[in-house]
Parts: sequence; structure tokens; C-alpha cells
Amino acid sequence: MASTPSPHIPSSILIIGGGVFGLSTAWALCRRPEYKNSSITVIDRLSFPATDGSSIDSSRIIRADYSAAVYSKLAVKALERWRTDFAPEHYHQSGLCVTAAGPEQKYVTDSLANVQAIGVDKIEVLGSSEDIKRACGLEAASPNGGGNVGYVNWSSGWANAEGGMRWLREKVEKLNRVKFVVGKVKKLQIHHQTNTVSGAILEDSSEIHADLTILAAGAWSASLIDLRGICKSTGQALFYMPISPSEEAKLSKNPTILNLSNGLFMIPPAKGLLKIARHGDGYINPTTIPHPESTDPNETITVSLPYTHVNDPNLSVPIEAHRECRDFLSSIHPSLAVPSRPFTHSKICWYTDTRNGDFLITYHPKYKGLFVATGGSGHGYKFLPVIGDSILECIMGRTPEDFKDRWKWPEERVPEELWKGDGSRGGPVGMVLEEELRKSGKARL
Ligand SMILES: Cc1cc2nc3c(=O)[nH]c(=O)nc-3n(C[C@H](O)[C@H](O)[C@H](O)COP(=O)(O)OP(=O)(O)OC[C@H]3O[C@@H](n4cnc5c(N)ncnc54)[C@H](O)[C@@H]3O)c2cc1C
Ligand SMILES: *[C@@H]1O[C@H](CO)[C@@H](O)[C@H](O)[C@H]1NC(C)=O
Ligand SMILES: *[C@@H]1O[C@H](CO)[C@@H](O)[C@H](O)[C@H]1NC(C)=O
Ligand SMILES: *[C@@H]1O[C@H](CO)[C@@H](O)[C@H](O)[C@H]1NC(C)=O
Ligand SMILES: *[C@@H]1O[C@H](CO)[C@@H](O)[C@H](O)[C@H]1NC(C)=O
Repeated sequence: MASTPSPHIPSSILIIGGGVFGLSTAWALCRRPEYKNSSITVIDRLSFPATDGSSIDSSRIIRADYSAAVYSKLAVKALERWRTDFAPEHYHQSGLCVTAAGPEQKYVTDSLANVQAIGVDKIEVLGSSEDIKRACGLEAASPNGGGNVGYVNWSSGWANAEGGMRWLREKVEKLNRVKFVVGKVKKLQIHHQTNTVSGAILEDSSEIHADLTILAAGAWSASLIDLRGICKSTGQALFYMPISPSEEAKLSKNPTILNLSNGLFMIPPAKGLLKIARHGDGYINPTTIPHPESTDPNETITVSLPYTHVNDPNLSVPIEAHRECRDFLSSIHPSLAVPSRPFTHSKICWYTDTRNGDFLITYHPKYKGLFVATGGSGHGYKFLPVIGDSILECIMGRTPEDFKDRWKWPEERVPEELWKGDGSRGGPVGMVLEEELRKSGKARL
């Protein structure tokens, strides 16, 4: 059970991780008068922007189409901000088209039934691959055509993810309330006799003391506390291709297309780059590390942890993902998928998945002074304008009623094989990064 939050306001607060969850929380703290005397420190292992962090990329989808009404409601609030006063220059409302073929068709048809029941405008129902081709400005209708269904929500869009983060970072820096530190946290400072966390120990052995420590280290959080059976880091594949200004002018008016059947999606290009990626089960990277909560230095646990271009500048994405993304591009824009137009770079970006896609925003059930804010599950970015305020409500013991059951520390740890997922992922399951790299004839880990 979550320990009850301390009634007093902590005099020092340490936020580990300067991504969407950490930075948005820091911003919320700066704006609350209750915290005006608290010191606020944000530490990140990389200087801003952390290039392998989940929050830094060319683009992220901004949508409110959730099957769970509570996330829709929060996303609508976030969308209102993106459209008006939150980094509006980085938000582009070009629509989102969700398609499917085969078994996932049911998911889309069911969502559509909901949609039509609510009677929202700006939804366009697409009953065939020809419809999809027209609405998404595709060069070609998908070859297997026929059975494809989908819909476009013209009031969704996408944001320049790094741009939005830079915008907020600058805003927070101007408030002059937050101390930003670059350094890698090695361990939480855990006092086992009292089950209290009092800050963090860094790789260089220096210490940062805090009355309240907020763990917001995204996919790396599992290296600092035991999250087995609660959060799982999964690597997702992304590819980029340079395109010409005239190609960009044409494609940038189209909606994002996300095929739920295989998880592949294309976000409209910007700044000369087209991105193709997969929203899938992803790769796991089982890693054996000292047990982050044990007093026995010899005790280890094995958990999936990120492995990125920061670990290995030569890291390339497994060949199976390259093939899938290439085939996808070839089926929708064949003229871009010719051999003379290779993807010029790629990366693996890490989701912090939970068993059903809910975030994990709660006090730690065992350690006083430790709050956890993570579990983005591949859909956290859009909430950048609002998630910090929600996190702060939880810190103050006022978790929004809608999210009480969803964001709490789970009653039990569930083996990862039994997770049912959030229903939105497509493509292959159960892949291990090292195996896929080996199959690709690429370097070891
Ligand atoms: C490929 C991809 C596509 C996505 N697409 C979408 C989308 O279309 N729409 C959407 O809404 N969401 C999307 N998401 C999800 C969204 O990006 C994430 O939910 C969100 O960015 C998570 O933020 P975070 O703060 O938890 O993690 P991060 O941004 O990763 O921040 C964690 C930070 O902690 C730091 N850190 C880690 N370990 C330590 C340590 N030991 N010491 C100090 N610092 C440390 C890291 O350097 C990092 O900067 C996507 C995610 C990915 C990976
Ligand atoms: C379309 O997006 C709007 C927000 O812009 C949202 O209110 C609506 O629920 C979305 N439609 C569907 C079908 O989810
Ligand atoms: C979506 O993926 C399915 C399965 O791979 C495929 O049959 C279909 O043609 C794809 N549709 C689009 C629009 O890409
Ligand atoms: C850890 O392992 C080493 C080597 O096996 C051993 O010498 C040491 O006593 C162990 N430490 C503890 C605390 O068990
Ligand atoms: C990356 O590749 C370059 C050139 O092939 C090589 O010199 C370098 O050692 C490699 N780096 C790593 C970390 O493997």
C-alpha cells in the first residue's frame, strides 16, 4: 500500500531525469506557492537535450483518441494547450489516420462505433484502402487492399518533440528556481533500518541530499529500484530519410498514418527529414545488475534496460525492423523507397511499458521520501503541458479520482509473459535485442 504522503512540504526535492515526466514536474513545482521555499534539483545523466532520452526526437503524435475515457480527457486538456499557449509553434494539426487490416480491424471498427456514438466532428471514416490513400495523400493504395479500414481524426496532430522540450526547458530556466545538474545517479540513498530514501549517490561518489526524491528516469528507472513485474523497458525502431523541400511541402499536409496491424507509422516530414517507425512490442535487453535495493552487494537482478547510441555510437537497428519499415514505405510511397533513397540514420528509443499501458505515478510503497513518476508506455509525450500538474497532485496526496487505480503501485508483480498490453501494438513479439543484432550480423552488446 502506498505510504501516506508527509503532510509537510519538503524543503529539498531531487528529480532524477529531465525528460517529459521530470521536467514537467519541475515546472509544476515552480508554479505552486506552497513550494516557494523548497529547493528543486533536476539531475540528468546527459546534458540537455539527452539525445537518447525518450522525450527527444523529431516528432511525437499528439492525439486524444484513447479507448480509456480518462486518458482522452487529460489528452484533450493537453491538446488545448498545444493549440494555444504551450509551444504552439512546435505543434502541427495535420490529423491522425489509424488503419488496420485483419484481426486488428475489429479494434478499429469498435473504436469507430464509439466515435460515431459520441458524434464528434472532424472524424472521417475510411472504408477501403482507396479511401485511406486519398485521405492520407498516399502514392499507392496498400497492395493487399480491400479489407483495410480506418479513420482520420483531423483534430489530432504531431509535435516536434525536441522543440517542445526545449521550449519548456527554457521556460523553467527563466524562472530561476531549479538547479539543473548533469550527473549519473548510481544508487538511491536508501536507509534500510528506517526504509527511507534521502537522495542519491552519483557515479563520482558525490551525494545529493533531498527530503523528497522523485524518480523519473524513464526506461532507466528499473536500474535504480526493483521494477520487475511492474515496468519493462522495450526498444522501438526508428528510421529517418532526407527529403527535398518540394516532397516535404507535399507530404507535410498529410495526416500521420498509423497501421495498427503492424505498428508501423509515418509522421509528416519536417526540416528535411521523413520518419518511419514502429509502435510495437519492441526489443527487450535483459541485463544483470547489482540489486538496486539490496544491502548485499553480491545480489543481482536481471532486467531489461536501454541500450542506445550513447552506449555504442555504432549501434544500428536490427535488420528485421529495417525491412519492415522499408516495406511499409514502399507500400505507401513507392517512389521514396527506391534503392537510391536509403534511410540515412536510425535509432532505438526506449518505452517504459507497464502491463496495461497505465503510468506509474505514486509514492513508493516501502521507502519514505521516494516518489516514482514513470511508465510512459509509449504514449506519454503528448501530456507534456499537463502531466507535471497531475504528478504534483499525486505528490500532495490528491491523486485525481479517475487515475487512483491506474497510477498506483500495483498490488502484485505480474510476470511479463502474462501482461495483456494496451491493445495498441502491432508487429512481432518477444524479440531480444542482442539476438536480433546477431541475426543482422551486427556487433554484440
Ligand atoms: C520511439 C518512441 C515513440 C513515441 N511516440 C510517442 C507519440 O507518438 N506520442 C506520445 O504521446 N508519446 C510517445 N512516446 C512516449 C513518450 O516519448 C514517453 O512516454 C516520454 O517521453 C517519457 O518521458 P520520461 O521522462 O519518462 O523519459 P525520458 O525522456 O527518457 O527521461 C528520462 C531521463 O532520465 C535520465 N536518466 C536515466 N537514468 C539516469 C541516471 N541514472 N541518472 C541521471 N539521469 C538519468 C535520462 O538521461 C533521461 O533524460 C514515444 C516514445 C518513444 C521511445
Ligand atoms: C479526435 O480528437 C479530439 C481531440 O482533438 C477528441 O476530443 C476526440 O475524442 C477524438 N476522436 C476520437 C474518435 O477519439
Ligand atoms: C497495414 O498492415 C497490414 C498487415 O501488415 C497490411 O495488410 C495492410 O495493407 C497495411 N495497411 C496500410 C494502409 O499500410
Ligand atoms: C561477495 O562475493 C565475494 C566474492 O565471491 C565474497 O568474497 C564476499 O564475501 C561477498 N560479499 C558478501 C557481502 O556476501
Ligand atoms: C565504431 O566504428 C568505428 C569505425 O568502424 C570503430 O573505429 C570504433 O571502434 C567503433 N566503436 C565502438 C564503440 O565499437
